[in-house]
Amino acid sequence: MKQRVVVYKKLPEHLNEQLRAEFDVTFFDRVNDGNRAAFLESLKSAHGIIGASLPITNEMLDAAPALKIASTVSVGVDNFDLDYFRQRGLMLAHTPGVLNESTADTIFSLILASARRIVELAEYVKAGNWKGSIGEAQFGVNVHGKTLGLIGMGRIGSAVARRAHHGFGMKILYNNTRPNPEAERELNATFVSKDELLAQADFVCLMLPLTPETERMFGAREFGLMKRSGIFINASRGRIVDEQAMIRALQDKTIHAAGLDVFEVEPLPADSPLLALPNVVALPHIGSATHETRLAMAELAVANLIAGLRDEKVPHLAV
Ligand code: DGY
Repeated sequence: MKQRVVVYKKLPEHLNEQLRAEFDVTFFDRVNDGNRAAFLESLKSAHGIIGASLPITNEMLDAAPALKIASTVSVGVDNFDLDYFRQRGLMLAHTPGVLNESTADTIFSLILASARRIVELAEYVKAGNWKGSIGEAQFGVNVHGKTLGLIGMGRIGSAVARRAHHGFGMKILYNNTRPNPEAERELNATFVSKDELLAQADFVCLMLPLTPETERMFGAREFGLMKRSGIFINASRGRIVDEQAMIRALQDKTIHAAGLDVFEVEPLPADSPLLALPNVVALPHIGSATHETRLAMAELAVANLIAGLRDEKVPHLAV
């Protein structure tokens, strides 16, 4: 008998076909209030699940006694309780590597957009307000030659640092659980304490995974240590930041601006004070969202799932 797979994200058709050829598959483009009951029902006999952007709770896992593997179409695994996966002996696969460069591109676009006020000024032009040459009140600040502080220096952090060093002549400071000798050698990056980084960097870029240890680790104290001219960039996870403290820091001009791709609650609620702040560039969690990268992620996630269900070596296991 074929093993059963539940897909809870829209995948490219050729991947759906690949899954159908080998497994008995139930497809959900996304899970919402309308189909949640059917999704939970499908878990009862599932051997593998694949998808993204949905917290997979321990209750859901308890409802899936035959489950062997969950494959997420993301590098982040914060939608899962890793300890519970270990306890149950379940596999959790993810998609590192293939999204490094496009996510670094997004982060760099946030750096440029917030420093040069690209979104605000583009809206000004579209609103028909460009009547003469702009004055100082609309000037931005330089990116090239400035100091970039990376909190976290893994694969994506290194890709951001490469752009900053080679393309923009920036000085790179970083803080990480361990030193990154390659970044020090090739990008002249300097390991400093978190407080020193916050005090010296013109751009503070949060590059950490969301874990119980990093949740809300960046708050009023950290914003207070940043330069008043400092720009805060976050494309990792919103819940690493105390969002209220960030809003206060932006409103009070404790920091100059922020470029954000992620938020405590996503989609960002329409009444979020962040939407009213001109010094905020807000994106809808698009870090890896290019056609090429999302395809590569989906292909990798499907390959992970198939390997797990065939009892072969899974290319990228988080647990
Ligand atoms: C990831 O891969 O973790 C991205 O943030 C998309 O969720």
